[in-house]
This record gives sequence, C-alpha cells and structure tokens, in this order.
Amino acid sequence: MNYKLIDMPVHGDKRGKLVAIENLKDIPFEIKRVYYMFDTLPNESRGYHAHKDLEQVIIAMDGACRFVLDDGVNRETILLNRPDVGLYIGPGMWREMHDFSYGCKLVVLASKYYDEKEYIRNYDDFLASLKK
Ligand code: TYD
Repeated sequence: MNYKLIDMPVHGDKRGKLVAIENLKDIPFEIKRVYYMFDTLPNESRGYHAHKDLEQVIIAMDGACRFVLDDGVNRETILLNRPDVGLYIGPGMWREMHDFSYGCKLVVLASKYYDEKEYIRNYDDFLASLKK
C-alpha cells in the first residue's frame, strides 16, 4: 500500500499549538499546489479516483473524515482526525472519502498542478492501469 501517516512537528506552549510544514523536509515531495475542502457533509462521499503520478499529503485541519485506500489488492480504512498528522498517498492508490464530520476542513498538499488527464475516475480502469 503506497501510503503512510506523517507526524507533523508541533510547537506548543500555553498560547496554543503551531505546525510548520517545510517543502521537501516534512513533505517528501515538492509542493506545487495546495487546495482545501470545507462545507463537507456527513452523507456526501468524495474522491472515487486514483492518480497516475500525483503524490499528496492530506491533513484534517478541523474535524474528521474516513479514507478508504485501495491498491487493487488490499483495501484499508484510515480515520483522519488530527491537525498534526498528514496522510501521504502516492501513485497507484484508489481513494474514497466518507463520513465527513460537520465542518470538517481538509487541506491537501500536492506534487503537481491540477490536471484532469492525470485522474483515473473509473475503478476498472484503475485495476487495468496496475497491470501496465
Ligand atoms: P474532484 O477532484 O472531483 O474532488 P474530489 O475528488 O475531492 O471529490 O474536484 C472537484 C472539482 O474541483 C472538479 O470540478 C475539479 C475541480 N478542481 C480544480 O479545479 N483544481 C484542483 O486542484 C482540484 C483538486 C479540483
């Protein structure tokens, strides 16, 4: 399975906590794009795609969301619910996002600019891509 959880370094004192993310240090790729999701709803799932080459780190800045990750053989569920943990997902992974808490905010750091041609949005096409 081409994913891992990354513990972000937390700087905390009595005023609160702070996480700083530095390119190529805390994140194992060069960050080309940042996007975020908000106003998500518990009964609305998202994702249902894989990427050909894209690498991403996803952080639940607020709230929680359940990720389903699938490499064509194994399928695992990860609960993302901490602002100091990043979920790294590499290429060749089908992903789904379910069970968003109300007001969940997900930040995504990505290794490439947005390119719809880089998506695989059909599960059978994803399985076929693994055999190439
Ligand atoms: P989509 O990839 O379908 O969202 P998810 O996989 O999380 O369900 O993206 C939703 C819309 O946003 C779609 O019209 C494409 C657009 N979009 C961009 O324009 N740029 C981006 O970087 C991303 C991630 C999406």
